Amino acid sequence: MSEQLGTLEELPQDYRDAMSKAGVAPLWPMMRNVLPHDAPNPVTRPGHWAFKDLRPLLIRAGELTPVEKAERRVLVLSDPGRGTGAMQATSSIYTGMQLLLPGETAPAHRHTPSAARIIVEGKGGYTVVEGEKLPMEEGDLVLTPGGEWHDHGHDGDEPVIWLDALDLPLFVYLEGSYAEEAELQAQRNRPDSSQVEYLAAGLAPSRKKNAIKKRYPMMRFPWSRTEAALRQLAKYGDDAIAEVDFVNPETGDYVLPTMGFTAMMFASGQSETPPLRSSSAVYHVVKGSGETTIDCTKITWGPKDTFSAHVFSKITHKANEEAFLVRVHDKPLQEKLGYYEERQR
Ligand SMILES: [Fe+2]
Repeated sequence: MSEQLGTLEELPQDYRDAMSKAGVAPLWPMMRNVLPHDAPNPVTRPGHWAFKDLRPLLIRAGELTPVEKAERRVLVLSDPGRGTGAMQATSSIYTGMQLLLPGETAPAHRHTPSAARIIVEGKGGYTVVEGEKLPMEEGDLVLTPGGEWHDHGHDGDEPVIWLDALDLPLFVYLEGSYAEEAELQAQRNRPDSSQVEYLAAGLAPSRKKNAIKKRYPMMRFPWSRTEAALRQLAKYGDDAIAEVDFVNPETGDYVLPTMGFTAMMFASGQSETPPLRSSSAVYHVVKGSGETTIDCTKITWGPKDTFSAHVFSKITHKANEEAFLVRVHDKPLQEKLGYYEERQR
């Protein structure tokens, strides 16, 4: 195995000029950049977006820019490794904090990337996906999968803020990202499927022969149930933190093709040192406060904060009080590509 590969500068100028003219380049000076030994060399750096900083900026965006001019009033959480303005928090995950004011709507649209939102603040907001009205309450996970028509509305009287998570960077990379718009959808006059078809774990509507299976049968995961499940697990679990994955109730698969969502509960003072994972992650704090060390970066987080971790980072979490987090990660994508990996520390 060669340790030191030849550089471009070692090659004669006339040869370099001839290569440029022919539209080719030598691989060997660049090979370690794209195929480093043993582990990837990520560009992504740990990010921390404190809600106390973001909230006033969002509220001001509401004053400065009417929603018709913004279409989506969002502040993008940019990966520090790529710099402010980067349309991603990690290599594959985009996150943005969105504001919807009372009475505002977002036009019906659909796009190739999949999206999910975690509701951060406010009452009365809702998303309509393919005619199903999904109320948005704090901590809820609401899905708008790729290709599904969706729009947002707000019946309440206070600002509603949510965190959007999309696999947008992946679709931009694939040159496959685009959206279509349409009129607001007619809403079916019934509660969403989390309140009707999938009210309890382990129960699903009786399967009829030849029935067409919905790819996304449940698109809202109410926080009240997630928290109750975590508390029960914590009560009867071992010393590990309580964690639940959000899954498709018909198949047990991840809820979206490339992004996974895991809710975590820490007891006051509890810590966790997960294995090194090949996946990247964005953590959103639903409640509580604590500290997380990501490689050499220490992040002190509070309620409604968001922070990110790059692939194969050394992570240690410690909660100062009882805390609930939702981890958005790209493990489903990496499993589909056949390379998801965990390494013990
Ligand atoms: Fe959307």
